[in-house]
Amino acid sequence: MSKVTFIASPDIAFVKYWGNKDDALRIPENDSISMSLNGLETITTVEFSSNFAQDSLMIDGVVPDLAVLQRTLNQVDLLRSLAQVTDRIKIVSQSNFPPSTGLSSSASGFAALTLAVNKALRLNLTTKQLSSMARRGSGSACRCVNGGFVIWHSGSNHANSYSETLFPSNHWLLYDLVSIVSESKKEVGSSEGHYSAHSSKFYPIRLLTIAEKLKQVRQYLAKKDFTALGELVEMEALEFHSILFTSRPSLLMWHAGTMNVMQEVRAMRRDGLEAYFTMNTGFNVHVLTLPVYLDKVRGRLEQLSLVDRVIVSQVGDGPLEVEKHLF
Ligand code: PMV
Repeated sequence: MSKVTFIASPDIAFVKYWGNKDDALRIPENDSISMSLNGLETITTVEFSSNFAQDSLMIDGVVPDLAVLQRTLNQVDLLRSLAQVTDRIKIVSQSNFPPSTGLSSSASGFAALTLAVNKALRLNLTTKQLSSMARRGSGSACRCVNGGFVIWHSGSNHANSYSETLFPSNHWLLYDLVSIVSESKKEVGSSEGHYSAHSSKFYPIRLLTIAEKLKQVRQYLAKKDFTALGELVEMEALEFHSILFTSRPSLLMWHAGTMNVMQEVRAMRRDGLEAYFTMNTGFNVHVLTLPVYLDKVRGRLEQLSLVDRVIVSQVGDGPLEVEKHLF
C-alpha cells in the first residue's frame, strides 16, 4: 500500500475538556469548545505493508518509550480491525512545537494519525466518524480533525461523542501568541489528570456551571465580542487549574515563567492592550489577542526574561493531506 501523509494542528480550548464519564472510551463529562491553531503542526506519514516484520514508530526523530508506542498502536489496531487487515505499519511523525509542555501535541498527533490511517486503509470514514475515532487516542484529538472554532459534543457513547465546526476559520481573525517558558516535559500527562478530576471538591461545581459557560462562549463567538470571550476564557483557565491544584494527587503545573506571562497579560490590559491568557495541562501559556494589538502584545511577551520564544498562531483551517512524505 502507498504512503499517506497528513498535517494536523493542535487547538486551544476556550471551555476545557476535563474528566471523563468513561475513561476507556474517553467520553467526557462536558462539551468543550476550541480554536484550531494554524502556526503549530504535526505531520505524520504512515505506510502499511505485509513485508514489514513489525510495527514501527518514530516521533520527532526518536523511537518513543513503550507507553507511547502502545497507546499509538492501540489506535492503529482499532482502525486495522475495522478494515480487517493485519499488515504492519510504519509511522513517522514530527511536530514543529515542543511536545508534552501543555500545547496539545497528542491532540494533533492522534488527529493526523487517524486521518492518515483512515486514508491508507481506505476506510472512508466520515468527518464525524473520524472525530469519534481520533478521540479514542487522545480526547482533544476529537476536535482537531476539524478547523475553525470547534465544538466537541460530549455524548454518551462512542458514536455520539464527536466534534464539528461551529464557525469556519474566516469567521473571526483571532491570534494566539503561544508563549514558550520551557521545553522540558511535564511530569504528569492529561490522561492521569482526567482520572483524578473527580477527586477535587470543586469539580461538581464546575459541572453544574459548565452548560451556561458553553452557551456564553457560543454567543460571544457569534457576536465576536472579544472582551466577553477573553474574560470568560481566562476565568475558565483559572477554574480549570484550581481543579488541578485541589485534585488528589494535586497537580501544580505552573512554572515561574507561567506566572510571569499571566501577570504581564494583566499589566497589558491595564495599559489598554487587550489580551487574555489560558493554559492547558502544562506551563506554556496561550495569549489571545486581536490583530490591532498583535505587534505590541508580542513585543511585550518577547521582552519577558522568562519567555524563551513566542509562536504566533491564527485560527486554523483544519487538517490537510500532503504529498510530501517523511520517509
Ligand atoms: O485530550 P487530552 O487528554 O490531552 O486532554 C486535554 C485537556 C486540556 O487540554 C486541558 C483541555 C482541552 O480541552 O484541550
